[in-house]
Amino acid sequence: MSDLREDVRAGFAAAYGREAEGVWSAPGRVNLIGEHTDYNEGFVLPFAIDRRTAVALALRDDGVLRVASAIADAPVEIPVAELAPERVSDWSAYPLGVAWALGRFGADLAAVPGADLYIDSDVPLGAGLSSSAAIESSVALALNDVWRLDLDRPALARVGRLAENEAVGAPTGIMDQSASLLGRRDAAVFLDCRSLESRVVGLGFAERGLEVLVIDTGVKHAHATGGYRDRREACERGAAALGVPALRDLTVDDLDRARSVLDEVTFRRVRHVVTEDQRVLDTVRALEDEGPEAIGELLDASHRSMRDDFEISVPELDLAVETAQASGAIGARMTGGGFGGAAIALVPADARSRVQVAVEGAFAEHGFAVPEIFAVVPSDGAVRDA
Ligand code: GLA
Repeated sequence: MSDLREDVRAGFAAAYGREAEGVWSAPGRVNLIGEHTDYNEGFVLPFAIDRRTAVALALRDDGVLRVASAIADAPVEIPVAELAPERVSDWSAYPLGVAWALGRFGADLAAVPGADLYIDSDVPLGAGLSSSAAIESSVALALNDVWRLDLDRPALARVGRLAENEAVGAPTGIMDQSASLLGRRDAAVFLDCRSLESRVVGLGFAERGLEVLVIDTGVKHAHATGGYRDRREACERGAAALGVPALRDLTVDDLDRARSVLDEVTFRRVRHVVTEDQRVLDTVRALEDEGPEAIGELLDASHRSMRDDFEISVPELDLAVETAQASGAIGARMTGGGFGGAAIALVPADARSRVQVAVEGAFAEHGFAVPEIFAVVPSDGAVRDA
């Protein structure tokens, strides 16, 4: 973290020719379990990871907002009062979208001071680790502080989601921003995506000699288009046909009826969501009653459900999961929205290199690109660093 904090300060000084007044940061996330349940108003269990996005900021007195980043050349600038979803694009839609969304949550955009922002990150892009939520959450926390808005963290998560939905145009749920803002060291965030009530659930991985390996397949996904939106629509159709406000309102006991009412594909989409909600509840109970070794079969079952019923896996993710399972992982599954990105494997620390070598070997044998494999540590959520 200290390197990223220094880099972002140096980047700020180079971009704007003055010193930043403060630095804020927010992490990416891994979803332990509960996939495509958030927009169905169900349950999720993500944790914040030790990869972060940092934003350095200094106020301006002319009402202009400028954003620059380590991945883009020139700053993008716009008067705060002119912010609107259709006025922002590309990567700057994330930070500027957050500034706009804060206006929907009480900020007086005609009166707040402008600011220069510089963003740097060590969250891998497009890997399904929520690099976008890390930007949104760090910027939301920073502007909330300097604009003295006094919004709490659940409200800031909603600000991030609004930016993502309206400014970026991706119809995603509330999970990623919640994990980034509410995460705690050595714990996961158990979130009810209907009430937005949450509590942290201790993971105890390190204490039990376990690690979470991320296997980034390098297959890129984009949630603004294609499969993600299509799955979301199928869920909404299923809920409407079954006469419930959201799939959250169904349990596994409703699946027989669902099968008789729905077409075969919509039924399988619904079955994934309904069984996945139950797996989240079972995982929380297993963690609390038995410890992390007990969640392996739930992780494996979650992957099968995403592969066969929700159909959001890809051959690289299936191979990563199967190879990890066969070479010593306690459990493994793809994580995030799907159609690419990363899988996670819960492994005993002494099996880590065996799993890594096996997965790399299997990818080479299948002619897939070399995967990035690294461990992540459940970490604290967004903070002001300096
Ligand atoms: C993406 C979205 C989340 C969630 C997951 C799938 O990460 O941003 O809101 O829907 O996919 O669980």
